[in-house]
Amino acid sequence: MADLTAPAARPANPRFSSGPCAKIPGYSLDMLADAPLGRSHRAAVGKSKLAEAIDLTREILGVPADYRIGIVPGSDTGAVEMAMWSLLGARPVEMLAWESFGEGWVTDAVKQLKLDAVVKKADYGRIVDLATVDFDKDVVFTWNGTTSGVRVPNGDAIPADRAGLTICDATSAAFAMDLPWDKLDVVTFSWQKVLGGEGAHGMLILSPRAVERLETYTPAWPLPKIFRLTSKSKLIEGIFVGETINTPSMLAVEDYLVSLKWAKSVGGLKGLVARAEANAKVVWDFCSANPWIANLAEDPATASTTSVCLKFTDPRITDGAAFAKAIAKRLEKAGVALDVGAYRDAPPGLRIWCGSTVETADVAALMPWLAYAFEAEIAELAKAA
Ligand SMILES: Cc1ncc(COP(=O)(O)O)c(C=O)c1O
Repeated sequence: MADLTAPAARPANPRFSSGPCAKIPGYSLDMLADAPLGRSHRAAVGKSKLAEAIDLTREILGVPADYRIGIVPGSDTGAVEMAMWSLLGARPVEMLAWESFGEGWVTDAVKQLKLDAVVKKADYGRIVDLATVDFDKDVVFTWNGTTSGVRVPNGDAIPADRAGLTICDATSAAFAMDLPWDKLDVVTFSWQKVLGGEGAHGMLILSPRAVERLETYTPAWPLPKIFRLTSKSKLIEGIFVGETINTPSMLAVEDYLVSLKWAKSVGGLKGLVARAEANAKVVWDFCSANPWIANLAEDPATASTTSVCLKFTDPRITDGAAFAKAIAKRLEKAGVALDVGAYRDAPPGLRIWCGSTVETADVAALMPWLAYAFEAEIAELAKAA
């Protein structure tokens, strides 16, 4: 007979949302006191904050010195679309998708830009076989599928001497996973994910080859000011030293700086990656120990260490969506896990954010609650039968 007693220990922080993600441990609004509020972002104080955000991003992520890093409007979506609208169309395109955000970029390429792109999709839980991808085309893909819990394991399949550009949405990967910069020409992410920052701004990182494309190719379609990275066929270098296209939130910038400094304090990228890996391992071990739950990622090599997606596999469950919803609701009501329902377009299940701002002790404290909620919902099913 299953134990239906609620666990005694609770996660100290029940925030396991996949975006915006948990703030850094010990976060308080007082930490933003140095934000230059009410000042111009073009004044020396504003510009130096924006430049510091770019410099710390480069330092922590190990971005090569000859890559440009810009702070752009529209969060990650803004950064990805700015890249797609500015760069695509010069050569054939291959679009890769393994979940809902990647599918969004496919829609952009095919329906909005009307490109005759090769589209390769994998079902939720898998990624496209990268050995089949033609990297002499421009290739757009998502490093970590936030809604499916699968990730690209490494950059080995991407040739160093590719003729095309690789455009990588790394929103839920940057700061938690190693990114092979020499294999990536465009990398984007937003602040609201692995470092627990705020929405609003996106990061756009460009390789020298991406810059060369920008300076030698003019798309056939018009570009709104908010997307324009060049002027008279020259890169607008100011964007990449903190002269943003339009007005940024200096409060969000300060918040990002606070997160970046915390990131350094936990050992930089190495420390951040280790934190996410330790968190994900707690969930993976729980899945191995319990036959009724499994990782949505089929191949452990592609299993995400940030957005860990889970499915219930117990044969007694007849309505998977209702069951998973009830579990998420029960955990939320108990105050032990907020926002852990699977993404609306993903298969039914749970998604537990294990990114670097989450404490491993909190993930560990959540697992017995998961078992408890499962047994409680199974008992409900038995009652209804
Ligand atoms: C892989 C991926 N791409 C894009 C986005 C959109 O990011 P934003 O809302 O910051 O624009 C998300 C958000 O969850 C994401 O996970």
